[in-house]
Amino acid sequence: MNGIVHGGGGAPGARGSAPGAAAMVPPKTAGAAADKAADFANYFCTYAFLYHQKEMLSDRVRMDAYYTAIFRNARHFVGKTVLDVGTGSGILAIWSAQAGARKVYAVEATNMSQHAKKLVAANGFHDVVEVIEGSIEDISLPEQVDIIISEWMGYFLLRESMFDSVIIARDRWLKPTGIMYPSHARMWLAPIKTRLGDQRVQEYQNAMADWGCFTQKTSDYYGVDMGILTTSYFEEQKKYCLQTSLWNSLYPSQVIGTPALVKEIDCLKATLKDVASVFSPFKMPVTSQETRLCGFAGWFDVHFKGSPHDLVDHEIELTTAPRDDETTHWGQQVCTNSLK
Ligand SMILES: C[S@@+](CC[C@H](N)C(=O)[O-])C[C@H]1O[C@@H](n2cnc3c(N)ncnc32)[C@H](O)[C@@H]1O
Repeated sequence: MNGIVHGGGGAPGARGSAPGAAAMVPPKTAGAAADKAADFANYFCTYAFLYHQKEMLSDRVRMDAYYTAIFRNARHFVGKTVLDVGTGSGILAIWSAQAGARKVYAVEATNMSQHAKKLVAANGFHDVVEVIEGSIEDISLPEQVDIIISEWMGYFLLRESMFDSVIIARDRWLKPTGIMYPSHARMWLAPIKTRLGDQRVQEYQNAMADWGCFTQKTSDYYGVDMGILTTSYFEEQKKYCLQTSLWNSLYPSQVIGTPALVKEIDCLKATLKDVASVFSPFKMPVTSQETRLCGFAGWFDVHFKGSPHDLVDHEIELTTAPRDDETTHWGQQVCTNSLK
């Protein structure tokens, strides 16, 4: 299978939308005051809840990857200054301090920073970790740092577009010899078999049938003919049921061909322009016999490799590919053939 993929940062959907539903939350925006208010209403508000932070803190694959990356490479952290972009509960900042960092700046846009401050103090690191409430774009630090650590990845890597903020932080606050944790990221796309497409078509048909009953009742009981809105409602439902990707946790056996690498990011070098769009020619041979191509799944991995002049001792990978055992809360993003 050959193809071209378009897309990239800024696509709708804050991470943490209910699995199984197509996320319809507007993207995080940058810039003007009105945009900032919209950011808080649409994107950041979810991160202000401990419930949501707990979901991320309970993701074993995610936690183990960051934990191992930091502690198996503690040499990088000993005596160094660290910036944690989007510290949330403060977990990565505390681990950085435990690994021996001299100073950690833990920046968080939401008032989750208040919980982070408590957690830092309760774990005895208030003299090392300084929690700063504010957008990374707006805050100021007294010095440049040796390491930027961040967990910025959204669905299919770029869906939250938080990496834009990490790039801004890197360009302002990372020393020329600095290291990014993680250092590299990749996006993958693969042909899959799934019943999700059939389910979504059914969902769309049910919605249309339900609209018919609804308009009839509204006319009979309340004397208003809603028929004029039928086309708009169908268009809206079509977009929701058939034209948006959705979250799913796939088994490896559902991947019916060779995954294609559609984007590679070097976190030390990537520019805002590099991550504004993904445009990639690719080949995805379907290798399973007697199968049905039902759609495509996208996922990502990130790597902790250190920097070219200071490689890690132990390279760690965090992958969100389909697997039989423990899955991640990112799952995979599925586009079904029902997309029209
Ligand atoms: C995916 S969570 C990770 C939280 C924590 N670092 C962890 O690993 O559990 C991302 C966090 O970054 C924060 N965030 C996103 N964009 C930000 C920005 N521009 N400035 C500061 N914080 C930001 C969010 O509010 C959220 O708490």
